[in-house]
Amino acid sequence: MSQQHSTDVSATPTTTRESTDWWRDAVIYQVYPRSFADSDGDGTGDLEGIRRRLPYLRELGVDAVWLSPFYASPQADGGYDVADYRAVDPMYGTLLDADAVIRDAHALDLRIIVDLVPNHSSDQHEWFKRAVADGPGSALRDRYHFRPGKGTDGELPPNDWESIFGGPAWTRLPDGEWYLHLFAPEQPDLNWEHPAVADEFRSILRFWLDMGVDGFRIDVAHGLVKAEGLPDLGGHDQLKLLGNDVMPFFDQDGVHQIYRTWRRILDEYDGERIFVAEAWTPTVERTANYVRPDELHQAFNFQYLGAPWDAAELRKIIDTSLDAMRPVHAPATWVLSNHDVTRHATRYANPPGGTQIRTAGDRELGLRRARAATLLMLALPGSAYVYQGEELGLPDVTDLPDEVRQDPSFFRAQGQDGFRDGCRVPIPWTRTGSSYGFGDGGSWLPQPDTWGELSVEAQTGVSGSTLELYRSALALRRETAGLGAGESVTWHDGAPAGLLHFERPGFACTVNTTGAPVRIPAPGTALLASSPVEVTDGEIELPADCTVWWAA
Ligand code: GLC
Repeated sequence: MSQQHSTDVSATPTTTRESTDWWRDAVIYQVYPRSFADSDGDGTGDLEGIRRRLPYLRELGVDAVWLSPFYASPQADGGYDVADYRAVDPMYGTLLDADAVIRDAHALDLRIIVDLVPNHSSDQHEWFKRAVADGPGSALRDRYHFRPGKGTDGELPPNDWESIFGGPAWTRLPDGEWYLHLFAPEQPDLNWEHPAVADEFRSILRFWLDMGVDGFRIDVAHGLVKAEGLPDLGGHDQLKLLGNDVMPFFDQDGVHQIYRTWRRILDEYDGERIFVAEAWTPTVERTANYVRPDELHQAFNFQYLGAPWDAAELRKIIDTSLDAMRPVHAPATWVLSNHDVTRHATRYANPPGGTQIRTAGDRELGLRRARAATLLMLALPGSAYVYQGEELGLPDVTDLPDEVRQDPSFFRAQGQDGFRDGCRVPIPWTRTGSSYGFGDGGSWLPQPDTWGELSVEAQTGVSGSTLELYRSALALRRETAGLGAGESVTWHDGAPAGLLHFERPGFACTVNTTGAPVRIPAPGTALLASSPVEVTDGEIELPADCTVWWAA
C-alpha cells in the first residue's frame, strides 16, 4: 500500500472548539459522492461538486457531513472496494479537492466524517495483486484469508459461508487456492490477525486525521475478526444482516480490541473527532458494545431503520435503543435511509417487508409517512442521520432498467440486496436542465421525469414542501433547547391506539401512525407538523400519518 500522498497537501488546521460533545445530538448528513453534484460534467458526482454545495447543507441546518468513499477504486462496489486508502479516485478529484472540502466545511462550521473500509480491500489493491502474483505460500497471502479447498482436488470452497451479495463467500484462483470475500469477489477480506494489517490501518487513520477530518464511519465494523478456524455455519441460517445470532464472521468479541486501539489514536487529536460504526448486530444490546466509553462514539441503529410504520413497534425500538445506550452513556442514533436500503418514502409506501422493497407502492402515502417519521426521528434524544435527497422526499427509483444497474449484488442472483441503485440515483437541484442541475453531462443513472418537481429549486421557499419541513425541523431542533439532548423520553400512556405521544422538558411530540384522523386535546402550542393541522377550542384533529411538535 503506498505511503505517499498522491498530491502534496499541507495538513489542515484542526477545529479548535471547546469540548461540546457536539456529536451526542448531531444531525449528520450522508453524501454519496457519486450522486450528489457533478462539477465537471462527466455524469458522476465529485468532490468539487460537494464543495460548491456545502452552503446548501449549512442552510439546511445539519452539523456534519459523512462522505461515502471517494478513494482510488475500480468501483466494483461503488467505492467500497478501495485500491489505495490514501488517494482520491480521479473520478472524484484529487487530495487537494478533499482538502478544499474539509477547509470550506470547517469555515461553514460543518464537520466532515469520512468512510473507512477496513474489512476488505479491492482486489486491485497492491497487497492483493502481489499476493495473487506471488502464489500459494507467499507471505502476502497471510494478509488476506487464503485457503486450500475441500474435496479430492480442492474443488470445494474451504467452508460453507455465503457472500452477503449472494453466492459463495470464496473464489478460487487458477493456482488452486481460494480466498474469502464476504462481499463481492473484488472485495477480498483482510486478515486482522496479521500485524501488518493493523499497523496499516492505524497509519491510514492518522493520514486522514492529519488531513483534518472530524471522524470516520467504519464500514462493516462488525466483520473484521473471524472466528478461529473459520468454522462452517452448519445448521445456522445463512446470512441475514439483522436477526442473526452472532455469526463466525460477524460481531466477534475480538473486534472491540481493535476499536480500543483506534480510540486512543483519535483521542490524541483535538477537535472532538468521532467514530461511528456500521455494525449490523442481532440486537441493540450487542450494538451498545461498540460504543462503550473506550471504544467508538456512535453506532447506526439499524433496528430503528427496519421498524415498520407502527406505533407499538416504534415505541418498542425507541425504548430498547435508549435503554441499551444508557448504561454505556452513548447517544442513541436514529436513521431512516442510507445508500444500502430502499428510501423510507418508498418503504412506507408499501406493506412492511424489510429494508429492500422493489415496488413503488402508494407514493402519496409513503411521502406522508416519511415526513411524519422524520419529525419523530428528529424529536428523539441522540444523533440523527439524514441521507441525501430524503430532505426532498425522494422516492426510490424502482423501475431502473436492468442494463443500467451497477449494484454488484444485483448480478449475484439471490443476494438479499440487489436493488441498491434505486436509492443512488443522482439528486435533482433544479427544475429543468441537464440532469436537473446535478451536472452538465447527464447522470450515471437515469433520473425519473418527476425529478424536476422534487428539486431543491422547486421546493425552496415553498411552504409545506418537504425541504422546508426539514429546514424548519432542524432549525427548531437547534433552537428548542437540546431537543437531541438527554437519554430518555416520557411516554404518555393514555394515547389512543396507533398514536405515540411523548414529552421532553418544555416539548412534546405526537405521532398518528394510523391511516385515519384522530381528535385529541392539544397538549400545547403547535410548533411544526408534518401535514397541515388546525387547533380549535383546545383540540386538534391529527391527520392520518402525521407528527406534530408542541411547545409544552
Ligand atoms: C457496507 C456499505 C455497503 C457496501 C458494503 C461492503 O455495508 O454500506 O455499501 O456494499 O459495506 O463494503
